[in-house]
Amino acid sequence: MHTREFDLTEIAERVLGKFKPMAAEKGIILATGFDRKEPAVALADSDRIEQVLMNLLDNAVRATPAGGKVELSLTAIQNEILVSVKDSGPGIPPGEQHLIWERFYKIDKSRTRSSSGTGLGLAIVKDIVEAHGGSVKVASKPGAGSTFTFNLPTKVNKS
Ligand SMILES: Nc1ncnc2c1ncn2[C@@H]1O[C@H](COP(=O)(O)OP(=O)(O)OP(=O)(O)O)[C@@H](O)[C@H]1O
Ligand SMILES: [Mg+2]
Repeated sequence: MHTREFDLTEIAERVLGKFKPMAAEKGIILATGFDRKEPAVALADSDRIEQVLMNLLDNAVRATPAGGKVELSLTAIQNEILVSVKDSGPGIPPGEQHLIWERFYKIDKSRTRSSSGTGLGLAIVKDIVEAHGGSVKVASKPGAGSTFTFNLPTKVNKS
C-alpha cells in the first residue's frame, strides 16, 4: 500500500463525477452528504480508496431505479472519517447480507444484469478497507434501500 495524507472530499468529488452520466441517463439523483469546502484528510492509499468508492457507487447506481437517489456522505469524527453510500434500490435480504462480501456472490442471478458484474466488487472493498484497519458494513431492508458504511483513519491521532 502507498499510504499518504490526502483530502477524501477531492477523491469523492472525482468519483461522483465519473458516475454523473450514468446517473443522469437512469434518472437518478447523485447527492453529496458533505461540505465540499471542508477537507476530510485521510491517511490511506488514495488509489485503493478511490477503487472502494467506485465499487460502492457502481453497485448503488446500478441497483437504484429511475427517480431514486444515491448519496455519498463523509463524516469526520474523532480519529476517523466515516464514509457511507446510501441508495434507494431494492435492498438486500437479511439472510444474504453476510454473503455479498464473498467472491463471485450475486443475489438472485436471474434478476441481476447478466452481461456485466462478476461479484468481485464487494470482496475487493472489504479487503481494502480491512487492510487500512477499518471495517465495512451494510444496513439494508428489502424495499427500503441499502447503506454501506466504512471507516478510515484520519491524519492526526487526537486522543
Ligand atoms: N447497493 C446494492 N443494492 C442491492 N444489492 C446489492 C448492492 N450492492 C451489492 N448488491 C448485491 O451484492 C452482489 C455482490 O456485489 P459485488 O459488488 O461484489 O458484485 P457485482 O456488482 O455483482 O459485480 P462486480 O462488482 O464484480 O462488477 C451484487 O451482485 C448484488 O446482488
Ligand atoms: Mg459491484
